[in-house]
Amino acid sequence: MCKPDNIVILTGAGISAESGVATFRAADGLWEGHKVEAVATPEGFAADPALVHAFYDARRARLDEVVPNAAHEALALLDAEWPGELLIVTQNVDDLHERAGAQRLVHMHGELLKAWCLACDSRVPWTGSMSEAAICPACAAPGRLRPDIVWFGEMPYDMDRIEAALRNADLFVSIGTSGAVYPAAGYVQTAKYCGAHTVEINLEPSQGSIFFDEVRLGKAGVEVPKWVEEMLA
Ligand code: APR
Repeated sequence: MCKPDNIVILTGAGISAESGVATFRAADGLWEGHKVEAVATPEGFAADPALVHAFYDARRARLDEVVPNAAHEALALLDAEWPGELLIVTQNVDDLHERAGAQRLVHMHGELLKAWCLACDSRVPWTGSMSEAAICPACAAPGRLRPDIVWFGEMPYDMDRIEAALRNADLFVSIGTSGAVYPAAGYVQTAKYCGAHTVEINLEPSQGSIFFDEVRLGKAGVEVPKWVEEMLA
């Protein structure tokens, strides 16, 4: 195919797996010992805020123990070198894309290193634990902070920007996602409908593999650098 101009790259938990960050849909359907609904829904948070804060506090603290892998580094290089439009749309809430140097990046499911104040609606950087007594740095309200994570049933961030990029894309690449959660799982169809070539890079075929023009099976740490090398050749 001729060189594409505009690229959209969707990433999921699989791109961070080799950095040691747990993916979501392990065989037992549990997520680090929890039912996803208990720790990733507004209802779960309302029912047991202490449990949900503890769950995200543990994941936030673990970010200090992990580093970007070759796949994050390769995407950051492509972002820096690519002359056309490029957008990395990550479903991940870790900061590994940023730490690898990615600039043109959106976190559609929020970020572990942010807090959302339900009193003043501010989003603020947050690194420590976020217990129920935490004080909002913007409005000083106590106990009104929640993780700035998009939970099931909530609207993902940056939807307009993502949709516009998909409509304008010549190439859509999905990396390390199971294709189990919408709207991200539907992006391949939007891109394809708008004329993009579509590539999936994943350890195993995802639920949406049939929609992709090309499927490259393997570890992101191996396959993504190979793909980026091809793109920059
Ligand atoms: N390299 C490439 N792909 C991998 C690797 C790896 N080293 N390890 C795992 N994978 C693949 C798995 O085969 C799987 O298809 O990554 C995918 C991870 O799928 P999930 O665990 O479902 O994660 P993800 O697709 O990002 O989940 C989407 O669901 O729970 C919600 O909001 C949460 O953002 C998350 C969303």
